[in-house]
Formats: sequence, C-alpha cells, structure tokens
Amino acid sequence: MHEPNSVEVHTHLTSDEIQRSLEEDVRKGLLGPVKSLPPTWFYDDEGSRLFEEITELDEYYPTRAERALLKNHAREIAQASQATTLVELGPGSCAKSRILLDAMRHNNALERYIAMDVSEEMIVTSAHELTAEYSGLKVTAVVGDFRRHLQYIPPVDRQLIAFLGGTIGNFTPLQREKFLFDLNCSMDASDYLLIGADLAKDPKLMVSAYDDASGVTARFNKNLLNVLNSRLSADFDPDLFDHVAIWTPRDSRIEMRLRSRVDQSIHFATINLTVAFVAGEELLTEISTKFNPHQLESELRESGFVLDKVFGAYEGEFLLALAHPHC
Ligand code: TRP
Repeated sequence: MHEPNSVEVHTHLTSDEIQRSLEEDVRKGLLGPVKSLPPTWFYDDEGSRLFEEITELDEYYPTRAERALLKNHAREIAQASQATTLVELGPGSCAKSRILLDAMRHNNALERYIAMDVSEEMIVTSAHELTAEYSGLKVTAVVGDFRRHLQYIPPVDRQLIAFLGGTIGNFTPLQREKFLFDLNCSMDASDYLLIGADLAKDPKLMVSAYDDASGVTARFNKNLLNVLNSRLSADFDPDLFDHVAIWTPRDSRIEMRLRSRVDQSIHFATINLTVAFVAGEELLTEISTKFNPHQLESELRESGFVLDKVFGAYEGEFLLALAHPHC
C-alpha cells in the first residue's frame, strides 16, 4: 500500500534476467554477417547520465522542440484526457514529466504517477524527487523494459500514457507495429496515449544532433562497449572504434554505428565467445527514425488508435500526438 508521499518500486528486471537477455542479444547481434545490438544496453547508470547530457546539447534539438510543444499544449492535453494517472515509458530523469503533472494538477485531476524504465538508479531517484515536489502524489517506479513488460503497468483508471523523446523512432518498422499493437491492447477505453516523434528535416541538422562537436554522443555510443566489458567480461578498447552517425534516406533514419579502426578480435569471457571485426567494419547501435507526420498518423490508426489531436506536425520540427484506443 501507498503511504502518503511514498514511492513504490516494482522490479521486473532481476540482474539474472538482465544478464540472460544481454547474452542472447550479443549472440544474436554479433554472430551474423551484419552486426547490431538493441539500444536498451546503452542505459546503465553512466549511459543514462550521458544521455541526460545529450538532451542539454545545443545540437540536440528534439528535447527543446518537444518541451516547447508540451509547454504550449499540456493544459489542453490534460483537459482532453481528463487523466488522473500519468504513466511514462522510458522517462529517464523525468524532466518533461513535470510539465504534464503540473497541467494535470491544474485540472484538479492529478493522483498518481507511474514510470517504467530500464535504468533503476535513474528512475528511483527521480521518483523520490517527484514525491517530494508533488505533495500527495502516489508514485510508482516500475523497473522494466517497455518492449516486454507493458502488462506490469498497474491497472488504474484514466491513464495518460506518455511515450516521449522520439523513442518510438528507435524501433524498426516491424518492432514499432508490434509495440503500438501491444500498447493498444494494454489500454482501457478511458486511457490516452501521448507520443512524441521527431520529424524528417535538413539532414545537416539531424546528423549534428547525433554527432555533437563536444563528443558527448560519441562517448555515449562508446559507453555501450564499457557495458559489454563489465557485464560479459569482454575486452573492447573503446579507443579502437569510431563513433559514426549517418542519415539513411531510404529508411528515413539516423543510424548510429561504431566502426572498428583495425582488424581485431574481441573475447567475451563470461560466455566464452570470440567475435572478429575487420578494419572499417561497423556495429549498428541505434536507429532513430525521422517521421513523415502522415505516415505516423496512419500507423497509429492501423494499430487501433483514434487521433484526438496532433501538435507541431505541420509547422515544426517535432510532433506530439494525442490518441485513444478505438472502441
Ligand atoms: N530517443 C533518442 C533519439 O533517438 C535516443 C538518442 C539520442 C540516442 N541520441 C542518441 C541514442 C545517441 C543513441 C545515441 O533521439
């Protein structure tokens, strides 16, 4: 039960489970002809901290653009949804949550905040901060992976589920379809979805957002290798890889890669696996899809959502879509 001003923590990622799924991802992703890893593994404590730093970079426009849209439209969103619970998927430091929480409080509706994130330290710290700032708010931190654990969101009425930061763009089209479908199935008729997605624009602007002058994104990308070193006793030397961010127009996405500078063999002692890289070979570490608004709107409709309102799409760099399940 919730004590007043207390935080509930639900953990669905035990360290055993994390270990097993990382091992599986490494075998699947590094043994084929094209090497890739899912982006979840960026977000250990150091990676989550570096990502917060990315959101403050001059070059990283998505955070600013999304925050401006939230500031302008949060009250309308709170009104339209009449939500009493804000649920956030992958909020990291919860910097944007406050804008929505304030609007819900203004609407006299705010009761509860639920956040699901893979980064335990980050989410538990933020949960405590929010409890201190919003008196009477019931806060639940769910340590989990939103690709697999949507069923663990506590079943409370009138949820506004926020999926912000352009994270929807980090899925491939197939993963996105599955995610939107699963999300739709997990929602009640009275729930709403607020999704933040980045839009295609001048490639120079997009590339520099993922390859900043001060090298924070490069450090973030290479931190993945440190995660593999520490969790799987691998022997990556991050200095033997270059950070690469390129725009691939065919898929309308930025791809983040790590390119090997030399021929090298990496040994993963924990799973007794050796992986060879030739000089110039790349490991795909992240995709960030940049949307055409019409396309995203029709994908939302195809996965069973009715669109209530789309903000920013035709005048700006970023869009926010408010939707609810059909039926
Ligand atoms: N959701 C963010 C995005 O696609 C994640 C992100 C930003 C990211 N910068 C990054 C992921 C750099 C990997 C590397 O914009």
